[in-house]
Amino acid sequence: MVVMLEPLRKLRYYFYHELSWPQLLWIAEDSSGKIVGYVMGKMEEDDAQPVHGHITSLAVLRTHRKRGIATQLMRNTQREMANVFKAEFVSLHVRKSNAAAFHLYNETLKYEINDIEKGYYADGEDAYDMKCTFPQNAPGAAKAKGGAEVKKITPMAGVTRDPEAVKRMIAEAEREEKLKKSRETTREGAQAVLDAAAKVGKMQVAN
Ligand SMILES: CC(C)(COP(=O)(O)OP(=O)(O)OC[C@H]1O[C@@H](n2cnc3c(N)ncnc32)[C@H](O)[C@@H]1OP(=O)(O)O)[C@@H](O)C(=O)NCCC(=O)NCCS
Repeated sequence: MVVMLEPLRKLRYYFYHELSWPQLLWIAEDSSGKIVGYVMGKMEEDDAQPVHGHITSLAVLRTHRKRGIATQLMRNTQREMANVFKAEFVSLHVRKSNAAAFHLYNETLKYEINDIEKGYYADGEDAYDMKCTFPQNAPGAAKAKGGAEVKKITPMAGVTRDPEAVKRMIAEAEREEKLKKSRETTREGAQAVLDAAAKVGKMQVAN
């Protein structure tokens, strides 16, 4: 029974995510239409707190890093959270050891540490719970520093309305979940999601 329920849980999660907040999913493409980065965001439904968003996942291909792509993706999602959903702030979790992501959030995007969650990750590493308030940190989409490297940033909305694409996303998410149990979590897990995004993204690019 558990075996049968698990795919349903994943299916429900991705449908819920993408159908509820299509404005918060963005991909970066290079000049050939190859997906080189993505961000997934969602809105939290916690009555105890003001309306706020959460960054679920972010990654940029290793070959395209340090060109401002993640900054641009994040600012697009933050802008939509602030403008469309009237979010008062956005939160996220990041590994304490993830220097690149911490620099992006803390230095570039001005997130602040809200809390430290002990043993948050499957391998026992602690997470910084970080928070960024709107509107001053959602100035709108900025141009990528290496503009020639990225042709466009596109909303991912609608991609997973194709059931086959949903299945692929779920398979990749399950693969990523397994990888999270290893010490290589961030690097390989992000690559798995990027590969999945590249596959489903092709349909979006083709439009
Ligand atoms: C974290 C990640 C998304 C950053 O993507 P990116 O496109 O290279 O980021 P940007 O080019 O927008 O850089 C943003 C800032 O971070 C800095 N930065 C990027 N990589 C860095 C690194 N390895 N070490 C220190 N700073 C780094 C940049 O210099 C830039 O700083 P600045 O604004 O002061 O000039 C990317 O490294 C990645 O995909 N990592 C694997 C997945 C991951 O860790 N995701 C986040 C999970 S919480």
